[in-house]
Amino acid sequence: MKRPTYRKYSTDELMETLDVFNVSAQSRDKIRRILETDPVVPDAGNFFRYYNDKSKAIEFEQAYAAKVSAQHALAVNSGTSALIAALMAVGVAPGDEVIVPAYTFFASVSAIVVARGIPVIVDIDESLTLDPEAVRAAITPRTKAIMPVHMIGHPCQMDAINDIASEHNLFVIEDTAQACGGKYKGKYLGTWGDFGCVSLDAYKVIGSGEGGILTTDDEWLYTRAQSYHDTAACWRPDRYARERKEGELFCGENYRMPELCAAVALAQLRKLDDINNRTRTVYHQLRNEIQLPDGAQWVEPHDSDGVCGYTLGILFASREDAMKAADIGIGGLAKKDTKGARDWHVYWNWEHILEQKTVTEEGCPFTCSHVKELPNYSPDMCPRTKDIMLRLGTIGINPTDTPEWASAFAEQINDGFAKLF
Ligand SMILES: Cc1ncc(COP(=O)(O)O)c(C=O)c1O
Repeated sequence: MKRPTYRKYSTDELMETLDVFNVSAQSRDKIRRILETDPVVPDAGNFFRYYNDKSKAIEFEQAYAAKVSAQHALAVNSGTSALIAALMAVGVAPGDEVIVPAYTFFASVSAIVVARGIPVIVDIDESLTLDPEAVRAAITPRTKAIMPVHMIGHPCQMDAINDIASEHNLFVIEDTAQACGGKYKGKYLGTWGDFGCVSLDAYKVIGSGEGGILTTDDEWLYTRAQSYHDTAACWRPDRYARERKEGELFCGENYRMPELCAAVALAQLRKLDDINNRTRTVYHQLRNEIQLPDGAQWVEPHDSDGVCGYTLGILFASREDAMKAADIGIGGLAKKDTKGARDWHVYWNWEHILEQKTVTEEGCPFTCSHVKELPNYSPDMCPRTKDIMLRLGTIGINPTDTPEWASAFAEQINDGFAKLF
């Protein structure tokens, strides 16, 4: 007797995904009726990147690598996973130090600890990104890597950071979570260092709900990141094969990007340039049309043509001025920080690091015998960052904001400033 074909996924599953897109009940009914006359018959393999000649994850990797001119791209399930896989790939070992800015989302720091490294937190400069001089001053014989973070789509000074890394033989892992499609001196962010790690979570420049992608030009680093992201390398192309080279096979995790997320990521990637061009245009327009009050200045990115443009920064003369500006809708920490609300983007709120709160009582990695000396973690350790962050005002820009909207908004802000200052 012919064995019936087992179809694990079908119309029901496709219908369920329509809810994620908020498809109306009426359209849902129409779609179901169409699908009932022409039912979907995917193979289970369509939901798995291997043995699938239509893998969306692989298509996304190829499209992303081509877009940013990287040799290798690896799709993963989050920006945090991308960072961990990169740190593991470069071989961060217990006791190794990784330099990270005092202004970043906590995930950058968390990834270092998960990789058993010791985060060395250093100041940013007025561009809101890692200060190369602070990096230089923080290097010790135990430093393994530098993690510049392109916060709010502002490019780090990558040439200066790479020079320091080459002088000291360090790896550079760019946290490009917030800066997909941004550039420094015409070259895509994430392609300056040994690795670039992008987040594709729901609120990033482009997103797949959850997701991430890392890029590298180094084949060996790619192999190791690929191994780590793929449960002990057992799903390498030559599945269950013996190690081809020492250092390739080790215990990893499963960070594979789901095919459904990859399909969304691929569609989003096609919109990347348009999104960045739109926000960048309004960013420059607002800078031209808003008159800043005395003592305030624009945050000057290291490459203003390369910003993603979804956040415009103002540095006020004082925290008090930044607090006043909050009353006319300028964002920032100045006021928020007094209300006990913790913002995980600034180091003084990173209680888990400052107090070394770890997942087990043994306190690894901070208490590991390989750790020779711990940084002096304290809420005052990076005073320059604290001063900058408490004077910072931000204006968010959406890709749908038009030049007309920008002019009206600039006028409203100018009126507000005139009344306040
Ligand atoms: C600077 C930075 N690094 C890393 C991450 C982590 O990305 P994900 O949420 O995709 O894990 C984020 C997310 O907000 C981020 O802003």
